[in-house]
Order: sequence, then structure tokens, then C-alpha cells
Amino acid sequence: MEFHVSLVDRKDLTGEIYRQLRRAIVDGRLRPGEFLPPTRELARRLSVARTTVTVAYDRLASEGFVSARIGAGTFVNEHVSSSLNDPKRRLADGPLRARSIWDSIPLSTNFAAPAKFDFRTGLVDASLFPHDRWRRLLSRQLRSEIVSKGVYGDPGGHRGLREAIARYIGIARGVDASADDITIGSGTQQALDVVARTLLEPGDQVAVEDPGYHLVRWLFESLGLRVNGVPVDQDGLVVEALPRHARLVYVTPSHQYPLGVSMTLSRRRALLAWAEQNDAAIVEDDYDSEFRFEARPIEPLQTLDNNGRVIYVGSFSKTMLPTLRLGFLVTPPSIRPAVQRAKQVTDWHTSLPLQMALADFIDDGGFVRHVRKMRNIYRVRHSMITEGLTKEFADHLQPVPSTVGLHVAAVARTATVDEINAVARRASDAGVQVETLSRFAVQTPTKAGLVLGYGAISSTSIEEGLSRLRHCFVA
Ligand SMILES: Cc1ncc(COP(=O)(O)O)c(C=O)c1O
Repeated sequence: MEFHVSLVDRKDLTGEIYRQLRRAIVDGRLRPGEFLPPTRELARRLSVARTTVTVAYDRLASEGFVSARIGAGTFVNEHVSSSLNDPKRRLADGPLRARSIWDSIPLSTNFAAPAKFDFRTGLVDASLFPHDRWRRLLSRQLRSEIVSKGVYGDPGGHRGLREAIARYIGIARGVDASADDITIGSGTQQALDVVARTLLEPGDQVAVEDPGYHLVRWLFESLGLRVNGVPVDQDGLVVEALPRHARLVYVTPSHQYPLGVSMTLSRRRALLAWAEQNDAAIVEDDYDSEFRFEARPIEPLQTLDNNGRVIYVGSFSKTMLPTLRLGFLVTPPSIRPAVQRAKQVTDWHTSLPLQMALADFIDDGGFVRHVRKMRNIYRVRHSMITEGLTKEFADHLQPVPSTVGLHVAAVARTATVDEINAVARRASDAGVQVETLSRFAVQTPTKAGLVLGYGAISSTSIEEGLSRLRHCFVA
């Protein structure tokens, strides 16, 4: 059957082909096993360059909608629409229709049961968290007068926590902020939502790193923003490739997610200069730089910024636990009142007992002790994995140098994206969970490779996990 794609008056041709095919897969017009038109044929029919079509196909593949088989073509994956076309699900359908954007945003499976050898990114070792101490601090706050009064709190956050964070990031990260500059929120994700609501209108252009953090890209898309993926090289985001009209640039300069590179000082300066010339805002996501194992910490963009263009975002998901949902924003004074109003309309404020318990934990030194302990533990895991990759995987993978954070990326020497996907599938069958680099592609197909997190895998399991993964390279 000849699948119809309409490109009349469309500007983002690749994006349009991708969206129309994805919609067809999701609503069952293209069924599991069915082949997409060959790229050459579709390009000819639509009078577009072949790469316009191949990039759209690669994006569908990286998100798991389709697979390519050499010599056969690209076909719809089995699991994709079978779950979406489940008859029970159809019966549950009512007259209300969600916006189509939600069809393209998969629900996280991060909470799924972990594999025996769990190299997923974004996780921490919760078994080493001081749970008893935290329970005591929390239960004291649950009985506190503030909580028993039952009135709402300050949308900007609990004063004591804002002061504690200002002191902590001043010392640990050199971030220049007073308690007034800080707004507490439920992690990075909400911080970005609040920033976008504060600064942007639907239709505005934003720039994100490519490859990059999907959850942020999806958030921006769901708010009706036009998302541009900007390439990343060994020095960080390629500033010359930024689209001129971007109103906001989202970056992870201390430890690029997922490649792991740190943005060089000259790139950081170039980004600040670019933002000044183009009247744009920069969001600096500093999600895991507490875990730095060598070299001097890199200076945050926030510290280098003299023009009030950088919004610094911090999270307690890596230093504490992701389940707490605690993070914060440091905003320039010009937008501070609006940010706090945006936080208020979003959810009034973040849970007060949690904020107060965290303030106590930071003030009594428990937080810094925990971070120090975990840094030493993660340092060992980081070096076991980088050494293992360098020695045992030399024929297959080249690790991306990185001395910070909770994950390491490694680029495939010769394997294609499909071959690496197959390695990851075999690994999963062998009880080893790893993420593929292509999964993080935004617009451009990413190099083939793997990303290995070590937050959730103990050092005693790393060797066996890597050894099983090594065997998966041989089909
Ligand atoms: C790039 C990046 N930023 C931030 C976070 C933390 O997000 P949150 O604070 O919403 O838990 C993560 C989690 O994995 C991440 O990968």
C-alpha cells in the first residue's frame, strides 16, 4: 500500500515525515511487521532529498518504533502498536482525545524491575542512603508546628532550605546566589517547566543538545515550543550551530548527558557571548557534577555570566534520591518574581516537611558527608567501568573520556546502530541492562554506541556484568 505523507506548506520536512509516520504507527494504520516505503522511493514521491527521509526513519528507529533489516527495508516493530491497539484499551477509549503530542511521548519504564546487572543511567545506589537518619529528620518535621498549622508555604520554597542551598552551592560549586535567588521545586523537570512558562510563548524556538536528555525535549514539545537539536562534540555544545532565533538554550555543561564530555571554558564563554548577541536565555542543568573524580571542577556558566542570562538548575535526585523529587533553580533577579508566580500556579509549593528535613540534613553536615561517601564509591565504579571498557572492549568500543558523574558513554568502533541495538537486546536477555547512544538522538542520527550508568550497580557486580556484555558483541 502506498503510504500518504502530506508536506504541503511544511517547513520542517524531516520532522513532518517522522510525525506522520509515527502517528500512523501509533493509531494502527501501519501495523507491526509492515514495511515503510523505501527511503529512495518516498524521497522521490515527495521531491525531497533522500537524507530528509532517512533522518526521519532513523529517529523512528532510535525511539523503538521501527527497525531496519539490511536488504529488506524498514518495518514497524512488533511491540509498538500491539499494546496501543489492545482491544481492552480501545474499549476504554471515550470521547475525549488527548493532544496528539502525547502519542509520541513514551511513559518511562525506569521504575520497572531492575535487571541483575543494572547499568541504566539516572539511578543512584539507594542501599547506601542514610535512611534511618532521614526518617528521623522527616518525622520530626511532620510533627512540626508549621505542618500542624496547615497553611500553605512560600511558593519560592522554605526559607531555611533556600539559605542552606545558597551556602552549599556557593562553597561546593562557586555559584553566586542568595537565598532570594533560589526557588525550590520538584527536581530538574519541574524547574524547566517553570522556566519555560516564565520565559517562552508557544511557537518559540528552543535549542537542546543532540544527543540529549529526552525528558526535557518532550517537556518543551508538550508546551508547544519548537525544539532544535544542536550537535555536541568533544568540547561540548557546538555554539556555531545554534539556530539564530532560539530564545532559550538548554545545556549540561559540567557533564553532557549522555556523552559525558565537559564543556571547555572557551565554549562556555562562546555560549554566553552567543546568548548576549541573540538575546537568549541559557538553562544550565548541573545534575550530577558533585561526583567529580579528577581535575578541578568546571566553573558553572552561572558564575561566568555577567549579564543575567543564565538560569542554574540543581537537583537532589543524584546526591540524595530521585524518589524525593527535590531540586532548585537559581534565577537572575529580573525574572525572580515571575518564576515564583509560575511555581505557585504549577503546584503552590513543594512539600514543606520534605524541604525542612532537607534543610536540617544540609545544616547538620549529613548531606555533605553523604555526598563525600558516595563520591568515593562512585569513583571506584567509574574507574572499574572505564578500565573495563578500555581493556576488554577495545575491539568494539571507544570510551568517551569523562571524569564526572554517574555514567560513561562509549562509541562503537565499527558497529552500526542496528548492530548495537542487537547487542543491547542480547545483553538484556543475559540479565544486563545497558542503554544505547542512539536512544538519545534528537534530530540527527547519533553515532552508534552504549551508555553505562553505575549508580545502581555495585562494584562487586561490575566485572561479571561487563563480562556478560562482552559476550553479547559476538552474535
Ligand atoms: C540530564 C539530566 N538532568 C537532570 C536529571 C534529574 O532530573 P530530576 O531532578 O527531575 O530528577 C537527570 C536524571 O537522570 C538527567 O539525566
